[in-house]
Amino acid sequence: MAGPVEVGAFAAGRIAEVVSAKPEAVLGVATGSSPLETYRALAARRDAGLDLTRVSAFALDEYVGIAHDHPESYHAVVHREVVEPLGLDASRVRVPDGLADDLDAACEDYEAQIAAAGGVDLQLLGIGANGHIGFNEPTSSLSSRTRVKTLAPRTREDNARFFDSPDDVPMHCLTQGLGTILDARRALLVAQGASKAAAVAAIVEGPVSSMWPGSVLQLHRHATLVIDEAAASEL
Ligand code: GLP
Repeated sequence: MAGPVEVGAFAAGRIAEVVSAKPEAVLGVATGSSPLETYRALAARRDAGLDLTRVSAFALDEYVGIAHDHPESYHAVVHREVVEPLGLDASRVRVPDGLADDLDAACEDYEAQIAAAGGVDLQLLGIGANGHIGFNEPTSSLSSRTRVKTLAPRTREDNARFFDSPDDVPMHCLTQGLGTILDARRALLVAQGASKAAAVAAIVEGPVSSMWPGSVLQLHRHATLVIDEAAASEL
């Protein structure tokens, strides 16, 4: 029975194919628990000789208002869970700046940086139980770009486990938009566990709808979902 380890191994294989063909590939990286097995499997491939030193990476999102060295800021999470284990060149890794004085300008600048890098070759994604990708919560415009969003109550509850108290979970975030994600040349969504089954069923078998933001991947020309048995249980 396929579980999280198999999901991670398969997804890492897809990423390795992209990087082997293009050593200076631009990857979109996701935080959260979903991609951890993928990063673990990719680190093993790196140990076996896959060169990731020329890869660039753009994170999907960041909380607003928490210090970059706060352990749950996505700056810190990306460094700890992606940059270090994969041996990426930190100078080629970007995370939206949730501490900027002008958040709208920071979002525009992030879009410009992605464009200047030549766009994202492969965007790795998890999915929230409410169907969000990045932090594009239900009702997000299907053509949205990087912008400030308010976190849904469900997402703040889901992420409270990472903070000392539920009240410490930030109210706002910066996130690449659904239109930004659609621009990636490939999209690779990983999901594990029964808590994701309803969201997986909705985005795969339901209509394209801003109420289930992940459903926008139905419009992507090269999207792959890698899911385990439990996440597939409502298909
Ligand atoms: C988080 C992130 C998303 C992630 C999702 C699912 O809040 N912003 O990028 O995909 O929610 O998280 P997890 O993988 O821990 O279930």
